[in-house]
This record gives sequence, structure tokens and C-alpha cells, in this order.
Amino acid sequence: MTLMEQTRPAISPEGVSAAASSQGFLAVVGVGIKLAAQTSLEAKAQIEAADRVFYLVTDPGTEYWLQTLNPTSESLQPFYDGRDSRLTTYLDITDYLLDHVRQGLHVCAVFYGHPGIFVFPSHRAVARARSEGFQAVMLPGISAEDCLFADLGIDPARKGCQTFEATDFLIFHRTFDPRNALVLWQVGVLGEVGYKISLSPQKLAVLVERLLEAYPPDHPVVVYEAARYPVCDPLIIRTTLAGLDVSMISSITTLYIPPLSQRKPDLEVAARLGIPADFIKRRFEMSDEEIERLGLD
Ligand SMILES: C[S@@+](CC[C@H](N)C(=O)[O-])C[C@H]1O[C@@H](n2cnc3c(N)ncnc32)[C@H](O)[C@@H]1O
Repeated sequence: MTLMEQTRPAISPEGVSAAASSQGFLAVVGVGIKLAAQTSLEAKAQIEAADRVFYLVTDPGTEYWLQTLNPTSESLQPFYDGRDSRLTTYLDITDYLLDHVRQGLHVCAVFYGHPGIFVFPSHRAVARARSEGFQAVMLPGISAEDCLFADLGIDPARKGCQTFEATDFLIFHRTFDPRNALVLWQVGVLGEVGYKISLSPQKLAVLVERLLEAYPPDHPVVVYEAARYPVCDPLIIRTTLAGLDVSMISSITTLYIPPLSQRKPDLEVAARLGIPADFIKRRFEMSDEEIERLGLD
């Protein structure tokens, strides 16, 4: 069976009832960050085979590429016009996708990055389609955070990593441990419920103030933008918390804050897990550079 023939899953995806309609079908896919280069084969097959493709992407190159894969491709960008809140836009996009699924069409909704990361209408559309008895799948894509780990050379599993949407992080006082790595998304639209993308120094100050409760002012911070075109390099600005400035931040900035120094290991827990104390002690005493040099990372 070719990828093209697999477009409608033979086995119902998780959460689809046995009575699922064999007609309308929704595939929500991600195309990664870098133009055409980060789309999985299964996502590409869905785009090519769909009766209708709808997309929300950030650059004209990807739009053109989608048109070449499937000439029905239509931008969802007009849903941002004339609406003053992002929530209204997201709800309207969900309705629009569902309207086409109800017509018995194979619909493919394309989002940049991973379609399930900070994309409200994608999860909602899949849940709604399934609740109405249609088959619906979400296929993962390469997210901005995946690119960040690769470009900055970070293994999130090594010291732990917490990831938050910046406004949500502030408003709900999200609990985090500064001895883990911290990733903050959507810093460029801090506190923005509409579509303004310029970040004011006053808003950035609220974030910095909160972070200064956990880190010293000279703690390193990385302002990061993954490359969107194969010929480009990522934008990586290394600064400190006190040195952060709005001029460094755009609508696609993600902020990476490395962990504070290593926590003390719990030797009792290590013993219960059967790990020799010497091994843990030696590892704890080693600097990050030494661990990397010995390839123990
Ligand atoms: C609505 S979210 C979309 C995330 C996307 N679904 C993903 O999986 O990467 C928008 C946020 O993603 C991050 N982002 C998007 N493009 C990026 C890029 N090229 N480099 C770094 N971060 C990016 C930024 O934090 C931005 O504010």
C-alpha cells in the first residue's frame, strides 16, 4: 500500500467510535518551521490526497509550496480580518473546517510547526469532528521547540525542561523550578488578546521582574528564532536577563533560559534505585564541560 492509499486510516484512530462516518474525514497536520524541509511523509500524503486543504502558515514560500501539492489549498488568514479577538477567530476557523467535513469531504488542515502546540483550533476541530462521528487524526510536526533543542544543543531530558506560554506563565503564576531549563513561547505577543505584535518595554518589564524573583540579573538568556528557509541560519541572541530588550523580540521569538546550577543528588533515592553512590557523586562533582568532554551527557 502506498502512502497515498493510506490517507483514510483503515483502523479508527483513538477516540473514534465504531459508528464513525465513512464520509467526512479530518486530518490536522504540521509542516514544521523550515519551508518544505520539515514535513513528514504522512503529513505530505494527507495534503496531496485531501479534497480541500486549509492552512495557517507564516510565510509565502510555504503557501506556494502547499498550492503546488494541492491546488485546493486555501488560507485561513482572512479569519483574522475584522475580528478583534483571537478567540473569535479560532472558533470561526473550527466551524469552517467542520462545515467542510460535514459535507463528506476529506479535509486537511495545515498548521506550521506542530499542529497541536499552541494551536487552539486544531485540537478543538479534531475533538468536534470525533464527537460528531467523523474520523479525525492529528499528525505531529517539527515544532519551534524541537528546532531550539537542535540549534542550541540542548537535551531537555538531562536536567528537565519546563515550557510555558509567556502570558499564561505570568497571569497564572505557573510553578516552575529554575534548576530546570525554561522555554517561554509567544513572548512577542505578551498580554495581547488581539493581533498587535509589537511588545512594549512595560510589558517586557513585567516578565523580567517575575524572572528576577528566580534568577540573578546576569543569568544568561537566549532569544531564539528558528530558520524558516533552508538557506538561512537561526537567529540566536545570547544576552542576560537584565540585558533583554524589546528590540530583540519579534512575533516568532521563543525565549530559552538555561537552568541554575545543578541540584544536589538524593543519594538515598539513588541507593534504592541500585545506582552506586560513587557514580552519582562523581557525576555531581563534574562540571557540565567535563560531562560533555567525556561524552556522558
Ligand atoms: C501560535 S505559536 C505556534 C507554535 C507552532 N505550532 C510550533 O509548533 O512551533 C507561535 C509561537 O511559536 C514560536 N515560534 C514560531 N515560529 C518560530 C520560529 N521560527 N522560531 C522560534 N519560535 C517560533 C514563538 O514562541 C511564537 O510566538
